[in-house]
Amino acid sequence: MEELRAELRRHEHLYYVLDAPEISDASYDALMNELKRLETAHPELVTPDSPTQRVGGKPAEGFKKAQHSRPMLSLDNAYSAEELADWDRRVRELAGGLPVDYMAELKMDGLSVALRYEPADGGGSRLAAGLTRGDGQTGEDVTSNIRTIRSVPLTVPATVLKKLELPQAFEVRGEAVMPAAAFARLNEEREQQGLPPAVNPRNAAAGTLRTLEPGIVATRRLDFYAYFLLVDGPGGGDYWPRGQHATLDALAAMGFRVNRHRKLVATVEEMTAFIGRAEAERDKLGYEIDGVVFKVDAHGTQQRLGYTGRAPRWAIAYKFTARSGVTQVHAITVQVGRTGKLTPVAELEPVFIGGTTVSRATLHNADFIERLGLKLGDWVKVERGGDVIPKVVEVIEDAERPRGKLHFSFPSQCPECHAQVVRAEGEVDFRCVNADCPAKLRESLLHFGRREVMNIEGLGDAVVQQLLERGLVHGVADLYKLTVEELTGLERFAEKSATALAEQIDQSKQAGLARVLMGLGIRFVGERTAELLAQEFGSMDALMAAKAEELERAEEVGPRISQAILEFFAQEKNRALVEHLRAAGVDMTAEKRQRSTQLAGLTFVLTGTLPTMTRDQAEAMIEAAGGKTTGSVSKKTSYVVAGAEAGSKLEKAQKLQVPVLDEDGLRKLLEEAG
Ligand code: IVH
Repeated sequence: MEELRAELRRHEHLYYVLDAPEISDASYDALMNELKRLETAHPELVTPDSPTQRVGGKPAEGFKKAQHSRPMLSLDNAYSAEELADWDRRVRELAGGLPVDYMAELKMDGLSVALRYEPADGGGSRLAAGLTRGDGQTGEDVTSNIRTIRSVPLTVPATVLKKLELPQAFEVRGEAVMPAAAFARLNEEREQQGLPPAVNPRNAAAGTLRTLEPGIVATRRLDFYAYFLLVDGPGGGDYWPRGQHATLDALAAMGFRVNRHRKLVATVEEMTAFIGRAEAERDKLGYEIDGVVFKVDAHGTQQRLGYTGRAPRWAIAYKFTARSGVTQVHAITVQVGRTGKLTPVAELEPVFIGGTTVSRATLHNADFIERLGLKLGDWVKVERGGDVIPKVVEVIEDAERPRGKLHFSFPSQCPECHAQVVRAEGEVDFRCVNADCPAKLRESLLHFGRREVMNIEGLGDAVVQQLLERGLVHGVADLYKLTVEELTGLERFAEKSATALAEQIDQSKQAGLARVLMGLGIRFVGERTAELLAQEFGSMDALMAAKAEELERAEEVGPRISQAILEFFAQEKNRALVEHLRAAGVDMTAEKRQRSTQLAGLTFVLTGTLPTMTRDQAEAMIEAAGGKTTGSVSKKTSYVVAGAEAGSKLEKAQKLQVPVLDEDGLRKLLEEAG
C-alpha cells in the first residue's frame, strides 16, 4: 500500500504540479482503485495522508478561527515605472550600499493561504492545517478544503527535508487561485441553475474555500502557487534565511507548484521588461494576474529593511492598470434566452478597454440594476474581468457627469412575443411564459448548434434568423430535414456553403448522448451533468425510464436536477422532440462507465459469521458490484450483513434502523445487481 501511495503521489505531482503526466488517466485510475480496494479491505491501515484521503471529514459547523504563526501582511503598491524607481532608490539607501537583487514574480489574483506542516512518522512532514488570511492575525481553518487541492502536497518526504536542511515543522504560504477554465465552468453551471454568475475568479476561489462541503470544493479544481517558506524562529515562524529565489526553488523541490514565470532582476529597466512580458502573456496564462511582485532577494537585506505597519519594506506590488473604462449608458435592452429568461443589457457609448471596443455590458437581472441604482443616461464604470463578457460595476457619482433621471422599469411583457413575464417565488429572473415564444426557439437553435453542444459549424445568428423567417424549421429536430436546395436559397449561401452546413448537420447526428442531452436544454443539465448522466445510463431510453432515486445514483445529481429531468420528460412535446431526433438518426447512446455501478453509493458493514461465505469473499463480491464496505455502523450505512454471533454492530444497526441482511439477502441483492 505504501508503494502504491508513493507511486500515486509521484504521478499527482507530475500531473497537477508539473503539468507533465507520464501515464494515462486510466492507468492512474487503475492504481488509485487498487489502493482503494486494499484500503477498504484493511481500513485499519488507511493513513490520513493517503492519496485516497483528499476528500475526508468536513467541518461540522462552520470553520474555526486560528491564529497565524506570524502576521500575514499585505504589500505596498506601485502604479508606474516612476514609483518603482522611487522604491528601488529607497531600498538601496536603506540597504546601505549592499548590492540588491529582486525576485520578480507574478501577482496572482487569488487569496493568500497559509499551510502548516508538522512532523510525520519516518522523518517527513505532513499537512496539518490550512488557514485563510482573515484579518492577517487570525484566519479561518479551512484544512479539509485545502486538502482537496491536488497541487498541495499532503506530505513532504524526509529525504527532501534533509537535503534542504529543513526542520519537519514549517509553514508554506502562497496563493489559492481558480483557473480560468474552472471559473468558466462554474459560471456555466451557475447560469444553468438560474444563479447570478460569480463576479471574478478571485471571489469564486474565496467562496469555494469557505464552502462547507469538501466534495464540492474538490470538483472546483482550485490551484495553489507557493511563494513563501517559514521556519520556526525566535518570533515563532520566520522567513527561510536563504532568501527568496532559493525559497522558490526549495518549494518546487518539496513538491509545490511554483510559478515558473519568475526571474532575478537588478535594475529598474529589467523590472519594467519583466512587467512588459507579464502583460503580454497575461491572457495566455490560464489564470488571472493583476500585477507583478518584486521582493528583495537576500534575507539579510530583507531583515535590515524591515516592515512598516502593514507591509514589508522589502517587497512591492506593481499593479497593472485596471481593465476598466468609464462610459455612458444610452439604453437598457432586454434579451430573451432559450429558457425564456430575460437578461437586461446596458447599451453603452463605445469605450476602448484592454484591447477591445465595448458597447454592451450585461446587467444580469432586475435586482442587479436596483442595487447599482442605475438610471438611463448614467455614467458607469465597466470592467472586463476574467470573463469575456464586460460588466457594469458601478455608477459614477460626479458633478461633471450628471446622473441620469430616467428610471428603468423592467418590462411586464416579453420584448419579443409580448406574452406576460413572471418571476417565480424565490427566483431573481423574470421569464417569458409563452412556450412558443420565437425568441426561445431562436435561442434553442443557436444553443443546439454551439460548439460545446452539437457542434454545428455555420449555424449562426443570420442563418437561424432566416430559417425561422422562411418557416423552414419549427424546432431543433427540423434541422435534420433541411435539404441542400433549401439551404442554397438562403441569403449569401452558395451551393458550397450550403453543402458544408448540410454536412455539419449530418455529422452532428454522431455527437452522442451527452451532447444531445445538453442540446435538449433541460434546466440544470450543463456540460458536466450531461456527461455524468450519459455515462451512468448509456442511452436516452434508460435515462427517460429512470425514477428520481435512479437518476440520483448518477454522480453529482441531487433532487433538484432529478426533478428538472423528470419534469422535462413529463411533457409530451419534449418526448416528441426526442422521438423526432431519433427518427432523424441522431445517436442517443453513450459508453456506459466501465466500473460496475450497481451497488455504487451503498455502504455495507459485515458482522458475525456467514453460513457459507468467508468475510473476504463477501467483501470482494460487494466491491465487485461497486459497493463499499466499512468497519463501523452509522446512519449512513446502507446495509448491515449479519451472520451467527453478530454482536454490538447488529444492535447498533437495529437502533439506527439500518436494514439488516443475512447471507441469503445479500446474495439476492448481488443477483439483482447482476
Ligand atoms: S507576497 C507580505 N507574492 O497579493 C507579503 N503576494 O497585494 C505578501 N499575491 O496578500 C505576499 N501573488 O494574496 C506575494 N507572488 C506573490 C503574490 C502575492 C499574489 C497576493 C497575496 C497578497 C496580495 C498583496
